[in-house]
Amino acid sequence: MFEIGPYQIENPVVLAPMAGVTDQPFRLLCRRLGAGLVVSEMVTSDQRLWKTRKSQLRLNHQGESEPRSVQIAGSDPQMMAQAAQESVRLGAQIVDINMGCPAKKVCNKAAGSALLRDEPLVRDILQSVVNAVNVPVTVKIRTGWSPEHRNGVTIARIAEDSGIRAIAVHGRTRACAYKGEVEYDTIANIKQAVSLPVIANGDINSPADARSVLDYTGADGVMIGRGAHGRPWIFREINHYLSTGTSLGTIDTQEFQSILLEHLNSIHAFYGEYLGVRIARKHVAWYTNPQPGGSAFRRDFVRLDSAQAQCESVLQFCEHLINNEEIAA
Ligand SMILES: Cc1cc2nc3c(=O)[nH]c(=O)nc-3n(C[C@H](O)[C@H](O)[C@H](O)COP(=O)(O)O)c2cc1C
Repeated sequence: MFEIGPYQIENPVVLAPMAGVTDQPFRLLCRRLGAGLVVSEMVTSDQRLWKTRKSQLRLNHQGESEPRSVQIAGSDPQMMAQAAQESVRLGAQIVDINMGCPAKKVCNKAAGSALLRDEPLVRDILQSVVNAVNVPVTVKIRTGWSPEHRNGVTIARIAEDSGIRAIAVHGRTRACAYKGEVEYDTIANIKQAVSLPVIANGDINSPADARSVLDYTGADGVMIGRGAHGRPWIFREINHYLSTGTSLGTIDTQEFQSILLEHLNSIHAFYGEYLGVRIARKHVAWYTNPQPGGSAFRRDFVRLDSAQAQCESVLQFCEHLINNEEIAA
């Protein structure tokens, strides 16, 4: 448990912001299955781009559990401040600043993790956003700009001085993208250097990973990204392991089916049939790939283009698993 401003985060396991993944249906599901905090997909600070249907859906936080954390990305302090204000007006209770994402779309505009090499600009952005809103502001960073420039500790100190209330650290440098081993030493050094809650991120894919990263870094929480793809129950499994030291065991086939169908139906309802069917494909593939018969199922599933056909196909796949009592961990 840790605090972000006035909010008590009951479980130390946080869903990472992931563009194209952590939409409202997925956030609600992860929260229900034990995530202590979920963070929205990033929105650009350029409000001229907020009118697209994609942005409108990203900015929708109706019916979400509290606290609602919204991530913004950009490099202009004034624009970031205004975007933060507008996000709060639209329902954000925590504003998260993206300084951790190496995606080209973000880095070409010198936002996301590209900002880490310009420490005065980092300070300027963080201070402008903190001063612009009366909700807690958090930041997500990497351990530095490149392996030769691991300035994560300096950035964390700047964050603390600027009034940031929590910091999530992906244990790779910007130059490392998603390659190579995650290094948790800089996360441990950051935790030593500041008194803010620090959330460790990067390659945490099991309850045992979570336990060892928390022990090694001293972090207050862990953040799970790809490990939650097709496995939103990972939050419950990690919570159980952290509090009891024992494993919850493999999810049973009936519950696998009900979670998958719940997720599929909520994607169709949130996006409408045309977009929903397309977005559902990757999520369903993540759930079914590790299961017996998953690859063959996927080949057929990606060709289906109606919500009803997708639901029927998933139901049939799950019935096969239930009848054979087969499920992969
Ligand atoms: C598909 C995808 C989209 C992502 N989008 C964002 C994003 O919008 N904002 C952000 O700060 N990080 C983003 N990230 C980075 C993740 O939040 C996380 O830091 C990274 O995946 C490492 O954690 P993991 O090993 O648990 O996946 C994204 C990652 C993935 C895989």
